[in-house]
Amino acid sequence: MKPKILVTQKIFPAIAEKLHRHFRTVLLPQELPLAGKTLAQKAKDADGIFSFLTDKLGADFLEKTPKLKIIANFAVGFDNVDLAAATAKDIFVCNTPNVLTEATADLTWALLLAAVRRIPQADQYTRTGKFKSWRYDLFLGSDLSGKTLGILGLGKIGKAVARRAKGFGMDVIYFDAARIQENEDGLDIRFVDFDELLRRSDILTIHCALTKATFHMIGSKEMATMKSGAYIINTARGPIIDEKALVQALKSKRLAGAGLDVYEQEPVLTPGLAQLPNVVCLPHIGSATKETRLAMANMAADSLIAFFRGTKPPPNCVNPQVAHKKVATVN
Ligand code: DGY
Repeated sequence: MKPKILVTQKIFPAIAEKLHRHFRTVLLPQELPLAGKTLAQKAKDADGIFSFLTDKLGADFLEKTPKLKIIANFAVGFDNVDLAAATAKDIFVCNTPNVLTEATADLTWALLLAAVRRIPQADQYTRTGKFKSWRYDLFLGSDLSGKTLGILGLGKIGKAVARRAKGFGMDVIYFDAARIQENEDGLDIRFVDFDELLRRSDILTIHCALTKATFHMIGSKEMATMKSGAYIINTARGPIIDEKALVQALKSKRLAGAGLDVYEQEPVLTPGLAQLPNVVCLPHIGSATKETRLAMANMAADSLIAFFRGTKPPPNCVNPQVAHKKVATVN
């Protein structure tokens, strides 16, 4: 009998068809994540799951899915999965790296420019008939050329953002918990410690993964250390920023502005955030191009297909040690 795969939310028809060719596929049709208990009920006899970043796959969920062998998460981030619990239960977890790098870096720049040049506010002003004449002080933003871009997290997306920064004539500094010298090759960027990153950045852009160590890494203390009039851009994960502290810093104009694609309690915005004129808010669309989302979905499907054909660890597995554990047990 073919393995049973649960697809937890509505997906591209082409991906559904592809999965159907290989598996007994159960497609959940809704566009919102199911609550934990309901999802666990649907997944109770699944051999594999094609999951979304909005599905909370914690230890309690994994307790209720005894047949589960693989989770293919349709995202590069996998903070929605309890990786330690999955690994303890010999469940492989796969993600979708690389294919979204350029789209996410593009969106980061779109958001950065929108925040610094006040594009959404100016658009609203124009389309609501307020544009009466050219004015010397209409929607004044900030220059980018000659300013310092600070990158928190120099992974693939951080590097792609750094490459684009050179086209805007910016100096680029970065901090990452692990400095890998060869990551800097050809980028003309400089490693600094976290404190210097905060103190020197005119614009701080966040590209690290959400982990216990990065939760609230940018809080009120860090915002107070930043330059007065600096900007924060976040296309990584919301909880890396203490959003309440951000609202305060934007309200007091200590920070000039922010561009956010992700939120601490996504999709709920911290009270006060949506009312601020100096923040641009997007609905988590960093990788949202047709090409990229399809490539991500194909990648997740391919991890499932390869795994059930016998490839262990499967492609793009973030806990390959599960395969080694099994070898150790057999030996
Ligand atoms: C991811 O993949 O983790 C992004 O947040 C959505 O593309």
